[in-house]
Amino acid sequence: MMMRFLAVACLGVAALVQAQNQTIQVQVGGTENESGGIFQFKPSSFNATNGSVITFEFSGNPGNHSITQSALSNPCQPLSGGFDSGWVLIPTGGVSPNPLWNLTITDDSNTIYFFCKQLIPSPHCAAGMVGTINAPGSGTGSFNDYLNNAMQTKDSGQGVGALVGQGASASAVPGPLPSGVTLFGTPASTPVSAASSGSGTSSAASASGSSSAAFKIEYDFKLFTLFAATMGIALIYASALIVFHKAIRCQLRHLPRTISQANAARSRFVSTAKILQKKPDASQANTKKESVAAPSSPSATASSSSTETKTLKSPTIEVGEDGLLHVPERPKSWLTHKVETSPTVRYWFMKITALLGYHSPKQRAGLRTFLLYERVCAVTPDAERSFWQNECDLPPTFQSWFIVTNLHFWMLTVRLRALPEPHGKFYVQFLLDHFFLDIEDRIRAILQPAIPPRDPYTFFTSFYVNPNIPKDGKLKRGSRAPERLVTRQMKIFKEQWMGMGMWFDYGLVTNDMELASAIWRNLLGARGSQGIAYPDSNPPKFRRGVNLVGGEVENPEKIDLEKEQGRDDGSGVHDYPPDEIDKYVGYPELMLDIVTYTRREIARLEKISDEEIMEGDLGALQFGKIRPHVKGSS
Ligand SMILES: *[C@@H]1O[C@H](CO)[C@@H](O)[C@H](O)[C@H]1NC(C)=O
Ligand SMILES: *[C@@H]1O[C@H](CO)[C@@H](O)[C@H](O)[C@H]1NC(C)=O
Ligand SMILES: *[C@@H]1O[C@H](CO)[C@@H](O)[C@H](O)[C@H]1NC(C)=O
Ligand SMILES: *[C@@H]1O[C@H](CO)[C@@H](O)[C@H](O)[C@H]1NC(C)=O
Ligand SMILES: *[C@@H]1O[C@H](CO)[C@@H](O)[C@H](O)[C@H]1NC(C)=O
Ligand SMILES: *[C@@H]1O[C@H](CO)[C@@H](O)[C@H](O)[C@H]1NC(C)=O
Repeated sequence: MMMRFLAVACLGVAALVQAQNQTIQVQVGGTENESGGIFQFKPSSFNATNGSVITFEFSGNPGNHSITQSALSNPCQPLSGGFDSGWVLIPTGGVSPNPLWNLTITDDSNTIYFFCKQLIPSPHCAAGMVGTINAPGSGTGSFNDYLNNAMQTKDSGQGVGALVGQGASASAVPGPLPSGVTLFGTPASTPVSAASSGSGTSSAASASGSSSAAFKIEYDFKLFTLFAATMGIALIYASALIVFHKAIRCQLRHLPRTISQANAARSRFVSTAKILQKKPDASQANTKKESVAAPSSPSATASSSSTETKTLKSPTIEVGEDGLLHVPERPKSWLTHKVETSPTVRYWFMKITALLGYHSPKQRAGLRTFLLYERVCAVTPDAERSFWQNECDLPPTFQSWFIVTNLHFWMLTVRLRALPEPHGKFYVQFLLDHFFLDIEDRIRAILQPAIPPRDPYTFFTSFYVNPNIPKDGKLKRGSRAPERLVTRQMKIFKEQWMGMGMWFDYGLVTNDMELASAIWRNLLGARGSQGIAYPDSNPPKFRRGVNLVGGEVENPEKIDLEKEQGRDDGSGVHDYPPDEIDKYVGYPELMLDIVTYTRREIARLEKISDEEIMEGDLGALQFGKIRPHVKGSS
């Protein structure tokens, strides 16, 4: 009975106490040596009823703290419309009396969360300098919950709030301010959107109501300065990018090599090894050791490296005495050289090219396909020149060069089409782009010759002769063909490319007979299509298979086919004359060899992994011998 009475009495007293306005002291910040350290509110979690005044005492020293309202989910961001004391700087050693900030609770039905928004020396919020008022003892929304959230953040918002907050308000900025104490970012008296940025540095006086306009103007001015500065930086950045982009575009043909070299030389160790290796090699370029792996142009046997660069300016592809193909190394551009030798330049080069998107799948495909085209496709006519020109009797013309390259271009595309998306599409498209840029370049070199010759898109070849280069090395007036001729030739080659690709595809999926006939029609000049002219045929006539979509035929609709077949167009592709008819005997074998070669190479490419196609060593991708069993067939 007595016990019950006491309990009731106690409850009554408790209710009475709760109804009264409380005053709660909270210490802001600590000292190095006290438990909890500098970054704390003490107590950090308490309950307070409506009308209670929380007196925050800035006793922690050295200290530069704030009491800023936030939300549970966004623990270190000033709450929009929340209260804020601004930063109060307490020097080391402390001051007397300590500045106080009185916060009155206006709504105790919701939890009030607050934190210190200081970032120096590290964000105080993430260090655990947070507090709650009227939070549940445990679970969601409790002090520990909020603390956990806070400790997972990396940053604190620096927005300046107001004296009036949500559920609690102050009526004055912290005070008194003994000497040594400084206020920063003093809040306005009425709620502002805490999403605003910038840490105000207005004086304590600006907290009075009348100065809110001044605050606004200052705030606007700051925003304007910030905006102007951002625009200025953006402008400088943009112009730098444009300049760099242009510089890179100029070096477009160097870029694939530069990037792949930079990639290979990523590790500093490797790069040093490479450079050490390069030096002696360059000085003894006449040793035949380095072949395809470290290709050197045969014309580059000059000992001094400066003359080497000059001779290399006209890269010509040739088969060396060792029977191996020497792919000309393009003279290194200034940029390539820098990227290769300086790790810093390489670092920034890779950074900037990445920024410009050169490492996106699309751009990478563009860069890689240039190497694939130049090193794998375009070298094939020269690699088996003797086979094509002596065995197949292809004349040394650009047309011959084109059909041989196109055969290999097609084989490579068969493999590239099988790359996973989006790579397959990019690779085929870009390989074609490089092929046709090269074709255009070569057509131009033939139709619009220049002396000295222009730097070629890929390299010079001796597979075909340019009939328009005068022997005396002097160009006559009017020897340049008009632009429309170049365009027309481009169209012709485009049609040949499409037609050949279609027939090869058809042959690939049907049978060897179809493939052989595609090869006979497209590669071997369709010799004998008009029947074989024997020595006793009367009268022995000159005949050739006329390719209606290529060569010299300019207007297929208007041509008299019969007459055209009997005319020597100088292309060198014609039926064997009666005294050479025994060459027809070897024709089926020749076709079989090419069909076998084609199927073998396609099967070989199929076995190469996608990664190797896209990143691997180019040497491994190169086409093999057409007749591997015949020694010295090339
Ligand atoms: C903290 O404690 C150490 C050793 O106990 C003392 O040397 C140092 O002065 C103290 N620092 C402060 C700020 O009291
Ligand atoms: C409690 O606070 C309210 C609001 O601030 C005020 O009106 C009231 O007078 C205070 N009561 C006491 C007992 O201090
Ligand atoms: C105190 O904090 C404010 C706001 O972050 C900052 O501007 C000021 O420089 C700090 N003062 C010191 C002495 O660290
Ligand atoms: C405190 O004030 C708020 C808002 O005026 C009100 O919703 C709430 O019920 C009050 N709390 C108590 C215990 O009266
Ligand atoms: C505040 O009140 C809630 C609910 O009334 C209680 O769970 C919690 O433990 C209290 N917090 C403190 C610090 O007393
Ligand atoms: C805060 O409240 C205390 C006690 O009510 C008072 O002594 C002090 O002057 C107040 N400080 C400010 C800055 O309002």
